[in-house]
Amino acid sequence: MSSNRDQFTSKLGFILAAAGSAIGLGAIWKFPYTAGTNGGSVFILLFILCTLLIGLPILMSEFLIGRRAQADAVSAFKKEAPNKPWFLAGWLGVLVSALILSFYGVVGGWILSYLFRAVTFQLDGGTEEHYGALFSDLISNPVEVIFAQALFMFITIFIVQGGIKGGIERAGKWMMPALFIFFILLAIRSLTLDGAIEGVKFMFVPDWSYFNMETLLNALGLAFFSLSVGVGAMITYASYLPKTETITSSAFNVAWMNIAISILAGLVIFPAVFALGYSPAQGPGLVFIILPAVFEQIPLGSVLVIVFFVLLLFATLTSSMSLLEITVSVFVKDNYASRRKYAWIVGIVIFIAGIPSALSFGHWSDVSIMGKSIFDFIDYMTANVGMPLGALAFSLFVAYYYKTSITQNELNLPTPMYWIWRVAVCFVAPIAIIIISVYNLFA
Ligand code: PHE
Repeated sequence: MSSNRDQFTSKLGFILAAAGSAIGLGAIWKFPYTAGTNGGSVFILLFILCTLLIGLPILMSEFLIGRRAQADAVSAFKKEAPNKPWFLAGWLGVLVSALILSFYGVVGGWILSYLFRAVTFQLDGGTEEHYGALFSDLISNPVEVIFAQALFMFITIFIVQGGIKGGIERAGKWMMPALFIFFILLAIRSLTLDGAIEGVKFMFVPDWSYFNMETLLNALGLAFFSLSVGVGAMITYASYLPKTETITSSAFNVAWMNIAISILAGLVIFPAVFALGYSPAQGPGLVFIILPAVFEQIPLGSVLVIVFFVLLLFATLTSSMSLLEITVSVFVKDNYASRRKYAWIVGIVIFIAGIPSALSFGHWSDVSIMGKSIFDFIDYMTANVGMPLGALAFSLFVAYYYKTSITQNELNLPTPMYWIWRVAVCFVAPIAIIIISVYNLFA
């Protein structure tokens, strides 16, 4: 094995990197606002089911493919299935992950803008309208939004050009626990506001009128998005894992942590939404509007909010770097000296591709594709079409291309657990993805 290929030095390093990729805007930003627009409880239940029954088995499959092939998402399929078209699934992942990063960078930029406002103490002391206006002023200001997006992409590229494992292990060790602690504190504050109980009901008392195929597709898309499944991110990361490390426990850890952070984020946002008189269904701005309002209710909130946005920035960067890493590793292949060059080229192209999304809340807010803004359209197409397609291909690959003896050996699970996984990737996941997608296509 080549000595130049990056490798995680420990299992902890790998879990932190994989969890770092998964836990990010999906759990903290997208989960609350998608749950908010999909009626809350039923959506949350479906999200958890999709994560465990469909996302987790496919996450294990991506780990399996990556660790076995020790190669990027495209080469992995060429190695494992020579002269077969499976590598096209890798290219689909490259395309979809690049599109995700194009708008991810925009939201990353918003976080930088908020961090700047927090540091300069402009975030506190407002009324409810104040926080709404703050967000809409920001997203409709093209200069600030694009500048912040560029800065966020610059940081992402800068980290990726040096190789992925540098820093993740050190930063991840304290970042994840710190983030958990912050969310628990915030949830306690939010839950003790007057009227908070309405938010808890919104999250946990099912309103079955929201149970339909569209809600199901949104839950499935979010499960993939927030587990980083379906674009080859986890194939890429697992390729840096020595063959001796086990993968199943890592997959379980990633899945439960992701659900836990999502629910915690919900417990911060929804009680406050109802207690402070906001609407849960206001879309991508939800978290940015509610969080400063919650911090305002906390002693030393204007200082803590700075720490919080720093942590949020870290969580977002560990995801954005995994998104960029997918494409960069495909181009770098075994030519390690070219990593720097490709990180810059790919990163800059993706930044430019994201500019229309950045503008779609301001100057280009009238432009719509299939009734959605540019930002929403790319978000929808990646999470609800691209990721399910990629996930379908990966699950079919491990289910029907690999022999049972291979997967059994690679996963090294007790027999009943192995067969549960096997039924999930052979039948449950593919059939569910096909039914949900096809139904929504013709609905
Ligand atoms: N899971 C990441 C998040 O929730 C986003 C992501 C998707 C990262 C796909 C990598 C691949 O923020």
